[in-house]
Amino acid sequence: MRISVLGCGYVGAVTGVCFAELGHEVFFVDVDPAKVEAINSAISPIFEPGLDKLLAKNNAVISATTDIHQAIQETEITFVCVGTPSNSNGSIDLTYVQSACQNIGQVLKQKDEMHIVVVKSTVLPGTTEGMVRQSLEEASGKVAHVDFGLASNPEFLREGSALADFISPDRIIIGTADDYAHQTLGELYSSFDCPKLCTTIPVAEMIKYVSNAFLATKISFANEIGNICKKMGIDTAEVFTGVGMDHRINPAFFQSGIGFGGSCFPKDVRALIAKAEELDVDARILKDVSRVNEDQPLKMLDLLERHVPDLENKKIGLLGLAFKPNTDDVRDSRATPLVKELLRKGATVLAYDPMAMGNFKRLYPQIEYAPSADSVLEADAILIATEWEDFENLNYQNKIVIDGRRIKKAREGSTYEGVCW
Ligand code: UGA
Repeated sequence: MRISVLGCGYVGAVTGVCFAELGHEVFFVDVDPAKVEAINSAISPIFEPGLDKLLAKNNAVISATTDIHQAIQETEITFVCVGTPSNSNGSIDLTYVQSACQNIGQVLKQKDEMHIVVVKSTVLPGTTEGMVRQSLEEASGKVAHVDFGLASNPEFLREGSALADFISPDRIIIGTADDYAHQTLGELYSSFDCPKLCTTIPVAEMIKYVSNAFLATKISFANEIGNICKKMGIDTAEVFTGVGMDHRINPAFFQSGIGFGGSCFPKDVRALIAKAEELDVDARILKDVSRVNEDQPLKMLDLLERHVPDLENKKIGLLGLAFKPNTDDVRDSRATPLVKELLRKGATVLAYDPMAMGNFKRLYPQIEYAPSADSVLEADAILIATEWEDFENLNYQNKIVIDGRRIKKAREGSTYEGVCW
C-alpha cells in the first residue's frame, strides 16, 4: 500500500519505517525541513536503536517532504502521528492534531480517490469523532465514513524497543465506523500474528489511555509497597517476584524505584485526570498514582540527608538523566525533581548520562556535567536515577550511594541505601 505518515517524531518515524520494512511505500510529511532532510538522507530524525539501519535498508520505498498535498494525493492511507503535549492544567494540547487535519482536509477536497485518515497520536476518547472529524469535514466538504475513511489505531511502542514492539505487538487495536477503513486496515495488518480487536473509535482511543494509566498504576503501587517494605526490612523485589507469579497479575512493571517518567505515562495520567474532572468524576486512584510518582524521587533526598545532613555547598553526583536506559529522552525524567531540589538546598550537582547529557543541558545548563561515569564518583555522595548497564561496572567502594534503580554493584558503597530496599 501507499502510506503517508504525518509527523516524523518518535511514533511517526518508527511507524513509517516499519511499514516500509513490511513492503509498503511510505511518504513522511513534517513541517520541520531538518527532519525531512534527515529522512531523505537515510538518517533517523530520532534516536531509536536499529531505526537508522532499517531506514537505510528501505531507502528506496521511503521519501519525506514538507508538501502535504503531494503526500496525500499519492497515498491511500494517512497516519496522523503528530505530538499531543500537555497544557499547563494537565489537559492535552490538540493544536498539532487540529492543524494536521485541516491540512489533510484541504487536500481531500481535491482528491477524487477514496482515502483513509488514521489517528495514531494519543488523543482522548471523543477527539477523533469530534474535533478530528469536524476539521476534516469542514476543510474537505466531504463526509467521514462515507466520502473518506476515518479510524483510530493507537500505538503501544516503548522507546528503546519500539521496532520489536511494532513488528511483534501484543495486540492491534483498530477503531472505526466504516467498512472501507475496517477492511483496508485489516489488510494492512493481515500479516501480523497477534490478537486484533476491531472496535469503535472511542473504545480504541480509551484503550490507549487505560493501558498507560494501568501500567503507571502498577509502578506507583510497586513503589508504595516498596516504601512499606523498606521500613520493614523486607525485599520488595522478591515480594513482587512472588506476586507476579500469579497469572492474573503478571510480573511486568512491578520494579520499585523512583517512578515513571518519559513522554507518555505522566502526560497520559494527567490528561485522564483532567478529563475526569471535566466530567465531574473524582479520579482518586489516578490522582494518587501521580502523587506517589511525584513524591518518590524526593525520598532519595530524605535518605541522602540522613547521611549528609547539610547539603549546602556539597557536591552531589548524579548518575543517569534519561527517563530510562537506552534513550536520550529526558522528558519528565525523575532526575529533574532531584536536580531542582538539590539546587534549592544549595548543593552543586555533578551529573553524567551516557546519552542524555545534551538534552538535559538544555534544561539545566547551570549544573556540572562529568566526562565519564567514573568522575561522578569523586562527589561527596552519589545518587543513581537511571539503570544504565554501565553503572554496574563502577567502583562504588568507600562512597555514599543512594540508589533509585537497584544497581547491584552499588551495594558495595560504604554507605548504601536503596529507595525502596
Ligand atoms: C510507554 C508504554 O510502555 C508503551 O506501551 C506506550 O506505547 C508508550 O508509553 C506511549 O504511550 O507511547 P515508554 O514511555 O517508552 O513506553 O517507557 P516504559 O518502558 O513504559 O517506561 C516508562 C517509565 O516507567 C520509565 O521511567 C521507567 O523507568 C518506569 N518504570 C517502568 C518503572 O519505574 N518501573 C517499572 O517496573 C517499569
